Amino acid sequence: MKAIIDVELKTRNVDFSKCKTDLLATGQFYDTKGLDKLNAELDQKLGGAIEQVLKLGDFKGKEGTSVVVYGNEGIGAKRILLIGLGEKKKATLDTLRKAAASAAKKSVEIKAENLSMAIHRAFDKLDLAAMGRAMAEGTYLGSYRYDEFVTESENGRLKSLNVEVIDSDKAKLTKLNKGLASGIIIGRAQSYARTLANRPANIINPAELAAEAKRMAKTTAGLSCTVFDEKQMAAKGMGGVLAVGSGSVSPPRFIILKYSPPGKAASSRPTIALVGKAITFDSGGISIKPADKMDEMKLDKTGGIAVLGTMKAAAEMRLPINIYGIIPAAENMPSGTSYRPGDIITTFSGKTVEILNTDAEGRMILCDALAYAVAQNCDVIIDIATLTGACRVALGKYMAGLMGNDERLMKQMQTAAEESGEKVWPLPSGDEYAEEMKSKIADLKNTGSRWGGACTAAAFLRQFAGNAKWAHLDIAGTEMFERAEYTAEGSSGFGVRLLTTYLMNIAK
Ligand code: BES
Ligand code: MN
Ligand code: ZN
Repeated sequence: MKAIIDVELKTRNVDFSKCKTDLLATGQFYDTKGLDKLNAELDQKLGGAIEQVLKLGDFKGKEGTSVVVYGNEGIGAKRILLIGLGEKKKATLDTLRKAAASAAKKSVEIKAENLSMAIHRAFDKLDLAAMGRAMAEGTYLGSYRYDEFVTESENGRLKSLNVEVIDSDKAKLTKLNKGLASGIIIGRAQSYARTLANRPANIINPAELAAEAKRMAKTTAGLSCTVFDEKQMAAKGMGGVLAVGSGSVSPPRFIILKYSPPGKAASSRPTIALVGKAITFDSGGISIKPADKMDEMKLDKTGGIAVLGTMKAAAEMRLPINIYGIIPAAENMPSGTSYRPGDIITTFSGKTVEILNTDAEGRMILCDALAYAVAQNCDVIIDIATLTGACRVALGKYMAGLMGNDERLMKQMQTAAEESGEKVWPLPSGDEYAEEMKSKIADLKNTGSRWGGACTAAAFLRQFAGNAKWAHLDIAGTEMFERAEYTAEGSSGFGVRLLTTYLMNIAK
């Protein structure tokens, strides 16, 4: 993909003080007495330059801050980037991931083509393989840029970045290397997802998304892709997707990716379905949205794209499980052919839904996709969707809402969230909420009362999951970064790390 900076990532057995590089990144905690050990050693060779920066108070090691100190003949690096890691007792893998991201981001900004990272050396309690993976993921996060339509970016922007994780201890490097490989796969998959998500609705419509899914599947071993067009959907009775797509000149598509592992999947492992909402643009339809920030609704396809990215990563890792990636894709537009408030839609499951608001379209495409996953006999179904503004109001931009019908699956998702740094928070979706979704003239209606919108939406979906173990991720708050901190603004690619981590864990 043209939009992505080519990143080459390796490990190298070298002493930091003899490391010839453009930028050497190290970490410094806020609350350690004096300089971190590695930084103290560096400081000696730099004649106290680092100590001076701290003394002046220009840099204290607070999380999210960094400072560049220039190298001299004593060391091989032209510049040293000290990255603030915050309080040591609060440090997690995510601290390291974000620090690596900050380093990569800085490298791209100052056009330092060779980046050497020794940030892991500041941490002493974390697993080395997990650290390698987090650093790789962070490298991709931080170096990511979306500028394929900025014609000026042709001149001057770094085209490639060489990154190495360095350590003078060979045994440590071997362990770091173990995690690096999966981190690279996940990092690339997430950047791929971010670019697709960042592309606007005049570039990606449902048919184009389907074509991209086919292209991706074709070039990835173990993946196959089937796409239903509007006629095939009509023949199958996918009334939900068809209704939502009916107002657009770009017809809807139903995308099914399938991953089968090399050899046979262990029979003890469940068949998983990942279901992702892909509304390529959500205007609200006849129940049209206000103009303010409507442009952000190009990101209403990010759930589906997270599924696409996860399928790519899972296949590249050759995980020993069968996985479906099901992506209903439609554009929600107002027109003379749109579905209307008051319409009653017969969905793929046979259940009927009274439409009260055409802007509650996500659940209308997802209900067909969930029922389709049930029809494929999937044991576990996880859906991911930018489903409700209410979830954004409830949890803000830091965590996705997690609902489900199975205690163990919810726990597994929470564990994956902790490991991946893509956080979730449990919310209810039980009978009280389902009660609100009953219609007098159809089986269900597509909106509940004013309150608990994220929960009533989930309660609606729950009814299409049959007997499968089901989890639902509402990513309306986490789909985008509003400001560039350790990575570029725009699509966050949320879900690729979380879902891939979940799959890796159950494949163990
Ligand atoms: N795609 C939106 C939800 C959304 C809002 C995502 C803000 C990201 C940021 C969804 O289709 C929607 O419009 N939901 C409605 C549901 C309502 C009509 C019941 C909402 O949240 O207002
Ligand atoms: Mn909507
Ligand atoms: Zn939507």
